[in-house]
Amino acid sequence: MRLTILGGGGFRVPLVYGALLGDHAEGRVSRVTLYDEDPARLAAMARVLADQAAASGAADAPEVTATRDLDEALRGADFVFSAIRVGGLEGRAADERIALAEGVLGQETVGAGGIAYGLRTVPVVRELARRIARSAPDAWVINFTNPAGVVTEAMSEELGGRVIGICDSPVGLGRRIARLLGVARPQEAWIDYVGLNHLGWVRGLRVGGRDELPRLLADDAALESFEEGRLFGAEWLRSLGAIPNEYLHYYYFNRDTVRAYQEAGQTRGAFLRDQQRGFYAEAGRPGQPAGAALAAWDRTRAEREATYMSENREVAGVGEREESDLESGGYEQVALALMRAIARDERATLILNVRNGSTLSVLDAEAVIEVPCLVDANGAHPVSTAPLPLHAVGLVTSVKAAERAVLAAAASGSRADAVKAFALHPLVDSVGVARRLLDGYAAEHPGLAYLR
Ligand code: G6P
Ligand code: MN
Repeated sequence: MRLTILGGGGFRVPLVYGALLGDHAEGRVSRVTLYDEDPARLAAMARVLADQAAASGAADAPEVTATRDLDEALRGADFVFSAIRVGGLEGRAADERIALAEGVLGQETVGAGGIAYGLRTVPVVRELARRIARSAPDAWVINFTNPAGVVTEAMSEELGGRVIGICDSPVGLGRRIARLLGVARPQEAWIDYVGLNHLGWVRGLRVGGRDELPRLLADDAALESFEEGRLFGAEWLRSLGAIPNEYLHYYYFNRDTVRAYQEAGQTRGAFLRDQQRGFYAEAGRPGQPAGAALAAWDRTRAEREATYMSENREVAGVGEREESDLESGGYEQVALALMRAIARDERATLILNVRNGSTLSVLDAEAVIEVPCLVDANGAHPVSTAPLPLHAVGLVTSVKAAERAVLAAAASGSRADAVKAFALHPLVDSVGVARRLLDGYAAEHPGLAYLR
């Protein structure tokens, strides 16, 4: 099997390669092609992966090649991972800063920041999808590029069901709940999770046919002992009768998180920009001993994970992240399980971003949603699910309407459509604010020059 990673110089690539190194089964990925526009990032990443291969001692480590030629990277690929960041972390920092200056949430994927990120990413991924359809028509495309929901939907216009979006947050949430409930074999639990990317709820967790979630919701001590429980608080979780994805903290505690983000010295994007600048310089420095690039990556990753959503935890009045919440194995394990299920026709159930079809009656068939899917050699098939409660219908449909305006703006190049995208988002509270946001973003991002 051949895997091509678009955005192959990206920081999370070693997670994926690490998972591949642990896979020795028949039909495993044996060749990895890294594609990136930036030669320095590619070189640094190639070193980290070489260190990983050496450290693993595996005789069958997947061969790694790097290229800056997109069509060459795509040709012959069985799987394509799309993990690009249009505008880089500098762009993310601007997305966050400009929104916060306007008094609304500035975050990578949620609210105004996510709309700005979508507006500059959608035209790029549409073109990428066309190139994939031409150069690798039989490849399966796994999208990690954020904002993952709207980006997967844009790519599916070109690639249909051959593109599947993934995110680690529902998996992490499901695993934490299963552990708390003492579920012996979490892979056998049925997690009733549904919504959009970064906007979903666990509404039940069935083991042996019985829903165990009510037991958790009734138990204050258990609720206060894991990340989402601490973020939202026992009372609010009981009011909802569900456990929301951690990203819903930005909605349910919006004013508080906006204030905390405004008061933080630096946005998350700016912190990561500086942190990663240091990492790439260190990993790319010539004449380093074997293992040094991997050690630098590992240190950087640990610091990144420990500080994830720290302002949200501050708002909730909870301390450091727990060891168990830090445990990785999300993102890369979902990707590996997905590839296995498709390549070997090993049936699996995974929470993925796919076209709705008739799963949620409040959305049309083309809308990409995040929901448990049955995966086999024919792709990912969303599993039927109970209707959303009214409060969730409200959020899901209004955010989808904002995403649709992003897709329309990226196709038409119309500023009015872009203003509509910001204004329709439930976390942007005025059309006037939406107009000023667009002016601010257009002045900052060259990737928005197409809007007239
Ligand atoms: C989670 C989300 C990703 C997101 C990341 C941001 O893993 O699922 O979609 O990109 O968090 O984390 P960061 O460390 O970049 O703030
Ligand atoms: Mn995600």
